[in-house]
Amino acid sequence: MGFQKKTVKDVSLAGKTVLLRADYNVPQDKNGHITSDYRIQKSLPTVQYLLDQHCKVIICSHLGRPKGPDDKQFSLSPVAKLLEKLLKRDVHFVGECVGPKVITAVAELRPGQVLLLENLRFHTQEEANDKDFAKQLASVADVFVQDGFGVVHRAHASTEGVTHFLPSVAGLLLEQEVNIIEQVIHDPKRPLMAILGGAKISDKIEILERFIDIADFVAIGGAMSNTFLLSQGIAVGDSLIEKDDVGLAKDIIERARAKSKKQKFVFYIPQDGVVAKEIDGKTHTRIVDWDVHVIADIENYPQRPPKRASTIAPDEKILDIGPFSGAFISGGMQMVSSVIWNGTMGVTEVHGLQGPIGPFAHGTERIVDAMLGEYGNKPFTLVGGGDTASYVEEQGLVEQFNHVSTGGGASMELMSGKKLPGVEALQNK
Ligand code: 3PG
Repeated sequence: MGFQKKTVKDVSLAGKTVLLRADYNVPQDKNGHITSDYRIQKSLPTVQYLLDQHCKVIICSHLGRPKGPDDKQFSLSPVAKLLEKLLKRDVHFVGECVGPKVITAVAELRPGQVLLLENLRFHTQEEANDKDFAKQLASVADVFVQDGFGVVHRAHASTEGVTHFLPSVAGLLLEQEVNIIEQVIHDPKRPLMAILGGAKISDKIEILERFIDIADFVAIGGAMSNTFLLSQGIAVGDSLIEKDDVGLAKDIIERARAKSKKQKFVFYIPQDGVVAKEIDGKTHTRIVDWDVHVIADIENYPQRPPKRASTIAPDEKILDIGPFSGAFISGGMQMVSSVIWNGTMGVTEVHGLQGPIGPFAHGTERIVDAMLGEYGNKPFTLVGGGDTASYVEEQGLVEQFNHVSTGGGASMELMSGKKLPGVEALQNK
């Protein structure tokens, strides 16, 4: 198949003024420090390519969801400083993204220089895909380059609108992301395993259905699995659930069962979990084995296991998959050639008292080890963006996966088979 849109390499850009859309929507801590520069790092090859073509490079991006232009915690100015460090050259910054200040800054820009504009979302017209705003954005450049993969699922002024006013092509990151994701979705090395976590089934219904269609093994973890368990009549205590989606979960399981009757296919929801009353690093945790009762049987034989070994108390929450589930998924992974992973298996943000692995992060650690070949087989690994990518980055493991996407929503929509407006709007090859 291959990428169908023109890229920076298909057009002559020498000496041109380029408006480059990046996704510099980077995570920041309470003090405004950027906690991950992954998206900025991944944008560098395109920026460098444009600089090598002696372009004047004007970069625009959004950051967060500001309430208005005075919401200064969402200024892109800290990004300009970091970009300067990573590019090892000056990055000019202007505190606006359209209007006279921008026109002046662009007039002063020389070929081979970079200018970063202020947060596009300081103007409501950006998300409204306002035509005049898009025209103003476009007015300072000769060519538009879309490289903000993380935002191409949005039809905004800087992703869709602007393409009506400038010749518009893709950057190298966008091309790479679309190529890798489409390859895994359309022509994966089989068997293909999909591991899906996260909180809401309703958010991931399309991707779930797609995975049931295309994958050979689908494993569910994270809070989403609680609703699946509930749909199978398992009491999940005080766990996070979505009552409205119980029917949906039931339907999905039925659909998956129908597929496994016809062909080799596994749809797996956890059979045990780590439960606790509180979500903190000090709380007492225990394993509940609600499915096969193996641990309880062995521990208590010849007595009958106590009921609590297989039941979650009303005041307990499932916060991670248990060891059997981790082992089952990791075992399955020894037989697959590709893995798509989105969503941690449990709560990974809570840090433990006893060591580097938090009390609810063992399940995620186990499957990460398996993906990275710790138990022998080393499948091709594609990590969907968003929180999962942040987790992988925090652990310093980005380089060990085959591809860690810079787009959360965008990668999920692309995998679901949806058209991405910011890609569709670009020139065809
Ligand atoms: C993301 O972080 O997923 C993208 O930057 C898009 O951001 P948005 O969800 O606020 O549109």
